[in-house]
Amino acid sequence: MENYPFGSGRPDPASFPKRELAEAAMRILPEMGNELALYPGALGYQPMRQVMADRLLRREGIAPSVEEIALTNGSMQPVTLMAQMFIDQPGDGVVMEEFCYSGTIGAYNKEGAELVSIPVDEHGMRMDALSDELKKRAAKGKLPKFIYVLATFQNPTGAIMPLERRKELLQIAAQYELPVVEDHCYADTVYEDDYYVPSLYTLPSEVPVVHIESLSKILGPGVRLGCFFTKQPLLGKILQIRRDGGTSSLAAAIVYEYFREHLWSHVNHINAIVKEKRDLMFEMLGQCPDAFEWFSRPKGGLFIWVKLPDATDVIECEQIAESRGIDYATGKAFHVHHDDVPYLRLAFGYASLAQIREGIPKLAECVMAAQK
Ligand SMILES: Cc1ncc(COP(=O)(O)O)c(C=O)c1O
Repeated sequence: MENYPFGSGRPDPASFPKRELAEAAMRILPEMGNELALYPGALGYQPMRQVMADRLLRREGIAPSVEEIALTNGSMQPVTLMAQMFIDQPGDGVVMEEFCYSGTIGAYNKEGAELVSIPVDEHGMRMDALSDELKKRAAKGKLPKFIYVLATFQNPTGAIMPLERRKELLQIAAQYELPVVEDHCYADTVYEDDYYVPSLYTLPSEVPVVHIESLSKILGPGVRLGCFFTKQPLLGKILQIRRDGGTSSLAAAIVYEYFREHLWSHVNHINAIVKEKRDLMFEMLGQCPDAFEWFSRPKGGLFIWVKLPDATDVIECEQIAESRGIDYATGKAFHVHHDDVPYLRLAFGYASLAQIREGIPKLAECVMAAQK
């Protein structure tokens, strides 16, 4: 059991609304008809889909109809479904950021896709590089099948893609007729007021955009609720390959009953708690400039992406940290081709303030002990 849990992207554990969900369950379950004796269907519990639509409407000013929203088992399920939808045969390509969520890298490798990596900068996926790559591939007659992108609070870098770049991405996608999958699972983990950029789904597009959301980062991954939406006819095709009987109506009904009135008060409450942790982690990292050469300052999400000195033996660093009870995610896990890059990703949502205050200087000692 680690003492300093900076590894995976989980929200603050103490703010999980156990009592509120228990009360919500007591209110709603006796009122439900025979829904729990039925399969939820491909779209799932309608009132919860309405909450998902309202959530988007409040954030983006525009929302899909509830008939276009499918509840899912977290966001990992729709992320995986997209490869099952678009990858016809082993070796078909998916465009991804060079540094990308490790779960998606693993799932898309498992589905037999070729991961086509596009370099990123502080504004996310680079459009000059995307354009060059697609041009080359078009010339060889081997275009990828879709683009997977984390435009808002990119995992691991925390980048937010600016509006102009989003528009450019959709133009390039249209030029090569590639559908776009937008993984938006950090959308409401926000610590600054001036961050907002409209999601790709809300922008004019000539190609289908599939938008994926999750409740894991604002409620808890144990709840396993998320959703995706897109327009017909693509929506129907994706739902046809879904083979799980639907998403738990039990979980959806309980969360609906709590969130129908308390979604935004809950989000504001947990974001205030996590912001304090993020700020403390910035402060502690800033006190160790020899060990942490550079680090991102994300306005949202749950991660800080940290550059280590080039002379760091990253494997040794990980071993030393593990022996001292410090858990973090290695840069390699997020590199599309698993290169040993001198980076690490720190998650700030789950650890306590005391663990952050003590753990970051200890991690700096591990980094310094691993210089070649
Ligand atoms: C970018 C991204 N997508 C998807 C997921 C999967 O999360 P979940 O299935 O719990 O919604 C994560 C989890 O860390 C993530 O960072």
